[in-house]
Amino acid sequence: MSIEENPFTPSFGEIPVYLAGRREIIDACSRAFLSERRRPELTTLFSGARGTGKTALLSYLAELAEQSGWIAVNVTALPGMLDDAEIQLRRNAAHLISPESGLSVASVGIPDLISLSVSEGEAPRSNWRSRMDDMLDQLSPQGIGVLFTVDEVDPTLDEMVQLAAFYQHFVREGRKVALLMAGLPHNISSLLNNKTVSFLRRSNRRALDRIPDGEVSAALVRTAQAGNRDVDATALAAATESIGGFPFMLQLVGYYAWDESPQANTLDSADFARGIAIAQQEMTYRILDATFAELSPGDLRFAAAMLEDEKDSRIADLVERLGRSSSVVAQYRKRLIDAGIIGKRARGIVGFDLPYFRDYLQEKLDNGELLLED
Ligand SMILES: Nc1ncnc2c1ncn2[C@@H]1O[C@H](COP(=O)(O)OP(=O)(O)O)[C@@H](O)[C@H]1O
Ligand SMILES: [Mg+2]
Repeated sequence: MSIEENPFTPSFGEIPVYLAGRREIIDACSRAFLSERRRPELTTLFSGARGTGKTALLSYLAELAEQSGWIAVNVTALPGMLDDAEIQLRRNAAHLISPESGLSVASVGIPDLISLSVSEGEAPRSNWRSRMDDMLDQLSPQGIGVLFTVDEVDPTLDEMVQLAAFYQHFVREGRKVALLMAGLPHNISSLLNNKTVSFLRRSNRRALDRIPDGEVSAALVRTAQAGNRDVDATALAAATESIGGFPFMLQLVGYYAWDESPQANTLDSADFARGIAIAQQEMTYRILDATFAELSPGDLRFAAAMLEDEKDSRIADLVERLGRSSSVVAQYRKRLIDAGIIGKRARGIVGFDLPYFRDYLQEKLDNGELLLED
């Protein structure tokens, strides 16, 4: 029997074999791409901590849009993103638009003396928006929409805010366009505070939080089956528990368990015991260290105060332990929720959401790497 390739995808940005827990989002977007009328899902902001699957979801939705007859333009919020978007649209729509569309007069055709002299010293004949308008003008009558995806939303980047503002004009002009953006929760929140793009406050918003255990188990089994292997039932329960609903951990655990005995028909408990141990280390290097480094002393004091509770914590208890006003404590609570570290359990109750962060923090306290002072 030949050994199958490992079907798990433990690297950032890769679309997994089976996308767990996103059915509802995918169905809603799919309907919106196919609908004759404009649906709200066409403008959606996704937020989630590192490793929750933002990039994978954007890529998946962009592919879905293309299969539904849209043209997708995928950019990351970095300087040069407007150029990048224009170049991608020009290239991806090359078979549908005239090659010169939107280019300024001076830059097309044979640069003879006349055209040079005409263009010299004059105001530019086109700008980003007019060139995009030109291309959209040609695509809309053909019923072809343009989807912009923006990953790693950065509210401090002018170009990103400009793209969102231009998009709003395109929508007002009745063009068939969509905008899906993804970013860390605190970046999404601060983008929403930007007045230039206040229309985004009315857009659709989705938090990519923990994936239910049933879905995690299903994804492990289906991914393993894609490589022609099964998962032992007892092993599956332990693996699911170790994953804690976190997509990146799902891929890590599956990947390393797979490699333990790749020639066996079934992934068993021994495979997962080793796989989970390696996955936890990777999780530390690739997620926990980076998350920890971004926390302020106040955030850390809040999180450390939660360690006194065996499971979830009552905000009222934290207020007492921290000796701060409830409004100050509420700010830290929000910051940690935004960072994807903790989540609300019930009214006035929070618990750790980021898998292993609790143990990680406890270890740092125990070995003196983290000193909390006032
Ligand atoms: N819904 C999902 N189900 C299973 N695996 C997923 C899912 N979403 C993402 N992944 C996997 O998790 C990892 C992190 O995904 P990524 O999109 O890079 O996260 P983010 O952009 O939020 O940091 C990748 O290995 C990806 O294949
Ligand atoms: Mg990403």
